[in-house]
Amino acid sequence: MAEHVEMTKTTPKDFLYATLGGLFAPGLAIVLIVLLLLGIQGRMGQPDAEPLSDQAVRERIQSFGKSLAVDPNAPKVERTGEQVYIEVCAGCHDSGALGSPKHKERADWGKRLAGGYDTLLTHAIKGFNKMPARGGDPDLSDLEVARGVVYMANAVGASFEATLKKEPEPTAAELARGKVVYADNCASCHDTGVTGAQKLSDAKAWAALIKEGKEYLYAAAINGSFGGPAKGGNEKLSDADTRLAVDFMVAEAKSAIAAAAGK
Ligand code: HEC
Ligand code: HEC
Repeated sequence: MAEHVEMTKTTPKDFLYATLGGLFAPGLAIVLIVLLLLGIQGRMGQPDAEPLSDQAVRERIQSFGKSLAVDPNAPKVERTGEQVYIEVCAGCHDSGALGSPKHKERADWGKRLAGGYDTLLTHAIKGFNKMPARGGDPDLSDLEVARGVVYMANAVGASFEATLKKEPEPTAAELARGKVVYADNCASCHDTGVTGAQKLSDAKAWAALIKEGKEYLYAAAINGSFGGPAKGGNEKLSDADTRLAVDFMVAEAKSAIAAAAGK
Protein backbone atom coordinates (compact mmCIF):
# COMPACT_ATOMS: atom_id res chain seq x y z
CA MET A 1 0.00 0.00 0.00
CA ALA A 2 1.37 3.33 -1.01
CA GLU A 3 1.50 6.25 1.39
CA HIS A 4 -1.17 8.73 0.31
CA VAL A 5 -0.94 11.08 3.20
CA GLU A 6 1.02 14.08 2.06
CA MET A 7 2.03 16.65 4.58
CA THR A 8 1.59 20.25 3.39
CA LYS A 9 4.54 22.31 4.14
CA THR A 10 4.03 25.84 5.40
CA THR A 11 6.48 28.20 3.84
CA PRO A 12 7.20 31.61 5.40
CA LYS A 13 5.32 33.19 2.46
CA ASP A 14 2.14 31.21 3.21
CA PHE A 15 2.46 32.22 6.84
CA LEU A 16 2.64 35.90 5.92
CA TYR A 17 -0.48 35.72 3.71
CA ALA A 18 -2.43 33.84 6.37
CA THR A 19 -1.52 36.36 9.03
CA LEU A 20 -2.44 39.36 6.86
CA GLY A 21 -5.70 37.70 5.84
CA GLY A 22 -6.53 36.99 9.46
CA LEU A 23 -5.92 40.58 10.43
CA PHE A 24 -7.93 41.98 7.56
CA ALA A 25 -11.39 40.84 8.72
CA PRO A 26 -11.23 42.22 12.29
CA GLY A 27 -9.55 45.36 10.93
CA LEU A 28 -12.45 45.96 8.57
CA ALA A 29 -14.93 45.38 11.42
CA ILE A 30 -13.16 47.97 13.57
CA VAL A 31 -13.22 50.52 10.78
CA LEU A 32 -16.97 49.95 10.22
CA ILE A 33 -17.73 50.31 13.94
CA VAL A 34 -15.81 53.58 14.07
CA LEU A 35 -17.66 54.86 11.01
CA LEU A 36 -20.99 53.87 12.59
CA LEU A 37 -20.17 55.68 15.85
CA LEU A 38 -19.12 58.79 13.94
CA GLY A 39 -22.38 58.62 12.00
CA ILE A 40 -24.50 58.38 15.16
CA GLN A 41 -22.60 61.24 16.80
CA GLY A 42 -22.93 63.39 13.71
CA ARG A 43 -26.68 62.95 13.78
CA MET A 44 -27.18 63.73 17.46
CA GLY A 45 -26.98 67.48 17.09
CA GLN A 46 -29.32 67.58 14.10
CA PRO A 47 -33.09 67.88 14.13
CA ASP A 48 -34.61 64.44 14.14
CA ALA A 49 -35.86 63.29 10.79
CA GLU A 50 -37.82 60.37 12.25
CA PRO A 51 -41.29 61.91 12.82
CA LEU A 52 -41.64 62.59 9.10
CA SER A 53 -41.05 59.00 8.12
CA ASP A 54 -43.38 57.96 10.93
CA GLN A 55 -46.08 60.16 9.45
CA ALA A 56 -45.41 58.71 6.04
CA VAL A 57 -45.91 55.25 7.43
CA ARG A 58 -49.18 56.31 9.03
CA GLU A 59 -50.40 57.81 5.78
CA ARG A 60 -49.66 54.58 4.04
CA ILE A 61 -51.50 52.59 6.68
CA GLN A 62 -54.40 54.99 6.56
CA SER A 63 -54.86 54.74 2.81
CA PHE A 64 -54.84 51.00 3.21
CA GLY A 65 -57.56 51.34 5.82
CA LYS A 66 -59.53 53.62 3.51
CA SER A 67 -59.35 51.24 0.60
CA LEU A 68 -60.71 48.55 2.90
CA ALA A 69 -63.51 50.80 4.06
CA VAL A 70 -64.82 51.33 0.52
CA ASP A 71 -64.38 47.74 -0.61
CA PRO A 72 -67.73 47.21 -2.39
CA ASN A 73 -67.62 43.50 -1.59
CA ALA A 74 -67.26 44.01 2.14
CA PRO A 75 -70.54 43.29 3.91
CA LYS A 76 -71.95 46.38 5.55
CA VAL A 77 -71.47 46.20 9.28
CA GLU A 78 -74.34 47.75 11.18
CA ARG A 79 -72.97 50.13 13.78
CA THR A 80 -74.02 50.07 17.41
CA GLY A 81 -76.19 52.80 18.90
CA GLU A 82 -73.21 54.33 20.62
CA GLN A 83 -71.15 54.39 17.41
CA VAL A 84 -74.03 55.93 15.46
CA TYR A 85 -74.53 58.51 18.20
CA ILE A 86 -70.86 59.48 18.33
CA GLU A 87 -70.39 59.55 14.56
CA VAL A 88 -73.63 61.23 13.50
CA CYS A 89 -76.00 62.40 16.21
CA ALA A 90 -73.61 63.91 18.76
CA GLY A 91 -72.91 66.80 16.39
CA CYS A 92 -76.21 68.34 17.52
CA HIS A 93 -77.51 66.30 20.43
CA ASP A 94 -74.38 66.63 22.57
CA SER A 95 -74.85 70.38 22.89
CA GLY A 96 -78.54 70.73 22.07
CA ALA A 97 -77.70 72.59 18.85
CA LEU A 98 -80.61 73.91 16.74
CA GLY A 99 -82.94 73.24 19.68
CA SER A 100 -82.36 69.49 19.63
CA PRO A 101 -83.10 67.54 22.82
CA LYS A 102 -79.78 67.24 24.63
CA HIS A 103 -78.30 63.81 25.25
CA LYS A 104 -78.86 62.64 28.86
CA GLU A 105 -81.00 65.72 29.63
CA ARG A 106 -84.21 64.18 30.96
CA ALA A 107 -86.14 67.45 30.88
CA ASP A 108 -85.49 67.75 27.14
CA TRP A 109 -86.79 64.25 26.42
CA GLY A 110 -89.76 63.75 28.75
CA LYS A 111 -92.52 64.89 26.38
CA ARG A 112 -90.84 63.31 23.40
CA LEU A 113 -90.57 59.91 25.03
CA ALA A 114 -94.28 60.12 25.77
CA GLY A 115 -94.80 60.26 21.99
CA GLY A 116 -93.59 56.67 21.85
CA TYR A 117 -90.80 54.83 20.13
CA ASP A 118 -92.45 54.61 16.71
CA THR A 119 -92.88 58.38 16.49
CA LEU A 120 -89.32 59.04 17.59
CA LEU A 121 -88.02 56.53 15.06
CA THR A 122 -90.12 57.89 12.21
CA HIS A 123 -88.99 61.43 13.03
CA ALA A 124 -85.35 60.33 13.14
CA ILE A 125 -85.59 58.45 9.82
CA LYS A 126 -87.72 60.96 7.94
CA GLY A 127 -86.56 64.13 9.65
CA PHE A 128 -88.63 66.45 11.83
CA ASN A 129 -88.47 70.27 11.70
CA LYS A 130 -84.74 71.03 12.03
CA MET A 131 -83.89 67.39 12.75
CA PRO A 132 -82.47 66.18 9.41
CA ALA A 133 -83.52 62.78 8.04
CA ARG A 134 -81.13 60.09 9.37
CA GLY A 135 -79.27 62.84 11.24
CA GLY A 136 -78.06 64.05 7.83
CA ASP A 137 -76.27 60.83 6.91
CA PRO A 138 -78.25 59.13 4.10
CA ASP A 139 -76.06 56.04 4.32
CA LEU A 140 -77.24 55.18 7.82
CA SER A 141 -79.53 52.15 7.64
CA ASP A 142 -82.93 52.20 9.33
CA LEU A 143 -81.56 49.83 11.93
CA GLU A 144 -78.61 52.11 12.65
CA VAL A 145 -80.90 55.12 13.06
CA ALA A 146 -83.13 53.02 15.34
CA ARG A 147 -80.13 52.06 17.44
CA GLY A 148 -79.12 55.72 17.68
CA VAL A 149 -82.63 56.66 18.83
CA VAL A 150 -82.69 53.87 21.40
CA TYR A 151 -79.24 54.80 22.65
CA MET A 152 -80.37 58.36 23.37
CA ALA A 153 -83.83 57.48 24.65
CA ASN A 154 -82.56 54.80 27.03
CA ALA A 155 -80.02 57.25 28.43
CA VAL A 156 -82.95 59.31 29.75
CA GLY A 157 -84.95 56.48 31.27
CA ALA A 158 -86.71 54.71 28.39
CA SER A 159 -86.22 50.98 27.90
CA PHE A 160 -86.71 50.65 24.16
CA GLU A 161 -85.29 48.00 21.92
CA ALA A 162 -84.14 48.82 18.41
CA THR A 163 -87.01 47.17 16.56
CA LEU A 164 -88.11 47.95 13.06
CA LYS A 165 -91.43 46.13 13.01
CA LYS A 166 -93.26 49.11 11.65
CA GLU A 167 -91.48 50.09 8.52
CA PRO A 168 -91.94 53.79 7.91
CA GLU A 169 -93.88 54.39 4.71
CA PRO A 170 -91.97 56.28 2.04
CA THR A 171 -93.24 59.76 1.25
CA ALA A 172 -94.69 60.64 -2.16
CA ALA A 173 -91.49 62.50 -3.03
CA GLU A 174 -89.38 59.47 -2.12
CA LEU A 175 -91.54 57.19 -4.22
CA ALA A 176 -91.25 59.58 -7.16
CA ARG A 177 -87.47 59.59 -6.83
CA GLY A 178 -87.46 55.82 -6.44
CA LYS A 179 -89.47 55.45 -9.63
CA VAL A 180 -86.88 57.41 -11.61
CA VAL A 181 -83.98 55.42 -10.13
CA TYR A 182 -85.87 52.19 -10.83
CA ALA A 183 -86.58 53.14 -14.45
CA ASP A 184 -82.93 53.99 -15.07
CA ASN A 185 -81.26 51.08 -13.26
CA CYS A 186 -83.62 48.26 -12.43
CA ALA A 187 -86.51 48.14 -14.92
CA SER A 188 -84.45 46.40 -17.59
CA CYS A 189 -84.58 43.21 -15.52
CA HIS A 190 -87.40 43.63 -13.01
CA ASP A 191 -90.01 44.79 -15.56
CA THR A 192 -89.53 41.71 -17.72
CA GLY A 193 -88.15 39.13 -15.29
CA VAL A 194 -85.14 38.59 -17.53
CA THR A 195 -82.22 36.66 -15.92
CA GLY A 196 -84.69 35.41 -13.31
CA ALA A 197 -85.28 38.77 -11.63
CA GLN A 198 -88.60 38.93 -9.75
CA LYS A 199 -91.06 40.86 -11.93
CA LEU A 200 -92.75 43.69 -10.04
CA SER A 201 -96.10 42.25 -11.13
CA ASP A 202 -95.27 38.81 -9.67
CA ALA A 203 -97.40 38.98 -6.54
CA LYS A 204 -96.35 35.59 -5.26
CA ALA A 205 -92.60 36.21 -5.51
CA TRP A 206 -92.91 39.62 -3.90
CA ALA A 207 -95.17 38.53 -1.07
CA ALA A 208 -92.33 36.24 0.01
CA LEU A 209 -89.69 38.94 -0.45
CA ILE A 210 -91.65 41.58 1.48
CA LYS A 211 -91.87 39.20 4.43
CA GLU A 212 -88.08 39.30 4.63
CA GLY A 213 -88.35 42.97 5.54
CA LYS A 214 -86.97 46.08 3.94
CA GLU A 215 -83.60 45.85 5.66
CA TYR A 216 -83.03 42.55 3.89
CA LEU A 217 -84.19 43.93 0.54
CA TYR A 218 -82.07 47.06 0.87
CA ALA A 219 -79.00 44.98 1.65
CA ALA A 220 -79.76 42.59 -1.22
CA ALA A 221 -80.15 45.48 -3.67
CA ILE A 222 -77.07 47.33 -2.44
CA ASN A 223 -74.75 44.32 -2.20
CA GLY A 224 -76.32 42.10 -4.85
CA SER A 225 -77.94 38.72 -4.28
CA PHE A 226 -78.68 35.49 -6.15
CA GLY A 227 -77.59 36.86 -9.51
CA GLY A 228 -79.11 40.29 -8.86
CA PRO A 229 -76.21 42.70 -9.44
CA ALA A 230 -75.18 45.12 -6.70
CA LYS A 231 -77.04 48.41 -7.29
CA GLY A 232 -78.42 47.01 -10.52
CA GLY A 233 -74.87 46.99 -11.90
CA ASN A 234 -74.48 50.76 -11.59
CA GLU A 235 -71.72 51.19 -9.04
CA LYS A 236 -72.19 54.98 -9.09
CA LEU A 237 -75.68 54.66 -7.64
CA SER A 238 -75.73 55.84 -4.01
CA ASP A 239 -76.98 53.56 -1.23
CA ALA A 240 -79.76 56.06 -0.54
CA ASP A 241 -81.03 56.01 -4.14
CA THR A 242 -80.84 52.22 -4.23
CA ARG A 243 -83.02 52.14 -1.10
CA LEU A 244 -85.53 54.49 -2.74
CA ALA A 245 -85.70 52.19 -5.78
CA VAL A 246 -86.45 49.30 -3.43
CA ASP A 247 -89.13 51.43 -1.70
CA PHE A 248 -90.72 52.01 -5.08
CA MET A 249 -90.49 48.33 -6.01
CA VAL A 250 -92.07 47.26 -2.73
CA ALA A 251 -94.88 49.81 -3.16
CA GLU A 252 -95.56 48.53 -6.70
CA ALA A 253 -95.38 44.94 -5.57
CA LYS A 254 -97.82 45.67 -2.73
CA SER A 255 -100.38 46.92 -5.23
CA ALA A 256 -99.79 43.82 -7.34
CA ILE A 257 -100.35 41.68 -4.23
CA ALA A 258 -103.51 43.63 -3.33
CA ALA A 259 -104.79 43.24 -6.89
CA ALA A 260 -104.11 39.51 -6.88
CA ALA A 261 -105.92 39.13 -3.54
CA GLY A 262 -108.92 41.05 -4.90
CA LYS A 263 -109.44 38.59 -7.75
C1 HEC B 1 -78.06 68.81 12.47
C2 HEC B 1 -78.45 68.56 13.85
C3 HEC B 1 -78.96 67.19 14.24
C4 HEC B 1 -78.35 65.97 14.07
C5 HEC B 1 -77.00 65.69 13.41
C6 HEC B 1 -79.22 64.99 14.64
N1 HEC B 1 -80.34 65.60 15.15
FE1 HEC B 1 -81.90 64.66 16.08
N2 HEC B 1 -82.81 66.47 16.36
C7 HEC B 1 -82.31 67.68 15.94
C8 HEC B 1 -83.27 68.74 16.27
C9 HEC B 1 -83.10 70.22 15.99
C10 HEC B 1 -84.36 68.09 16.90
C11 HEC B 1 -85.63 68.74 17.44
C12 HEC B 1 -86.65 68.77 16.33
C13 HEC B 1 -87.96 69.36 16.82
O1 HEC B 1 -88.50 68.83 17.79
O2 HEC B 1 -88.42 70.33 16.25
C14 HEC B 1 -84.03 66.67 16.95
C15 HEC B 1 -84.86 65.70 17.49
C16 HEC B 1 -84.58 64.36 17.50
C17 HEC B 1 -85.45 63.34 18.06
C18 HEC B 1 -86.78 63.59 18.73
C19 HEC B 1 -87.89 63.51 17.73
C20 HEC B 1 -89.24 63.71 18.37
O3 HEC B 1 -90.17 63.02 17.94
O4 HEC B 1 -89.36 64.52 19.28
C21 HEC B 1 -84.84 62.15 17.88
C22 HEC B 1 -85.36 60.79 18.29
C23 HEC B 1 -83.59 62.41 17.20
N3 HEC B 1 -83.46 63.75 16.98
C24 HEC B 1 -82.69 61.43 16.85
C25 HEC B 1 -81.49 61.67 16.19
C26 HEC B 1 -80.60 60.64 15.81
C27 HEC B 1 -80.81 59.17 16.05
C28 HEC B 1 -79.54 61.25 15.21
C29 HEC B 1 -78.30 60.60 14.62
C30 HEC B 1 -78.54 59.51 13.69
C31 HEC B 1 -79.80 62.68 15.20
N4 HEC B 1 -81.00 62.88 15.81
C32 HEC B 1 -78.95 63.63 14.66
C33 HEC B 1 -81.11 67.93 15.32
C34 HEC B 1 -80.21 66.95 14.94
C1 HEC C 1 -79.25 42.62 -14.79
C2 HEC C 1 -80.55 42.35 -14.24
C3 HEC C 1 -80.93 43.08 -12.96
C4 HEC C 1 -80.93 44.44 -12.72
C5 HEC C 1 -80.52 45.56 -13.66
C6 HEC C 1 -81.44 44.61 -11.37
N1 HEC C 1 -81.73 43.39 -10.81
FE1 HEC C 1 -82.50 43.06 -8.95
N2 HEC C 1 -82.42 41.08 -9.27
C7 HEC C 1 -81.97 40.47 -10.41
C8 HEC C 1 -81.94 39.02 -10.19
C9 HEC C 1 -81.49 37.98 -11.19
C10 HEC C 1 -82.39 38.82 -8.88
C11 HEC C 1 -82.45 37.52 -8.11
C12 HEC C 1 -83.71 36.74 -8.32
C13 HEC C 1 -83.73 35.57 -7.35
O1 HEC C 1 -83.55 35.77 -6.15
O2 HEC C 1 -83.91 34.48 -7.81
C14 HEC C 1 -82.70 40.12 -8.34
C15 HEC C 1 -83.23 40.32 -7.07
C16 HEC C 1 -83.49 41.57 -6.52
C17 HEC C 1 -84.09 41.77 -5.23
C18 HEC C 1 -84.58 40.68 -4.30
C19 HEC C 1 -83.42 40.09 -3.52
C20 HEC C 1 -83.51 38.61 -3.41
O3 HEC C 1 -83.11 38.09 -2.37
O4 HEC C 1 -83.93 37.96 -4.37
C21 HEC C 1 -84.17 43.12 -5.01
C22 HEC C 1 -84.71 43.84 -3.79
C23 HEC C 1 -83.61 43.75 -6.19
N3 HEC C 1 -83.22 42.77 -7.08
C24 HEC C 1 -83.52 45.12 -6.35
C25 HEC C 1 -82.97 45.71 -7.48
C26 HEC C 1 -82.81 47.13 -7.63
C27 HEC C 1 -83.19 48.17 -6.57
C28 HEC C 1 -82.28 47.34 -8.86
C29 HEC C 1 -81.90 48.66 -9.48
C30 HEC C 1 -81.11 49.56 -8.68
C31 HEC C 1 -82.10 46.04 -9.48
N4 HEC C 1 -82.53 45.09 -8.61
C32 HEC C 1 -81.59 45.85 -10.75
C33 HEC C 1 -81.58 41.08 -11.57
C34 HEC C 1 -81.44 42.44 -11.74
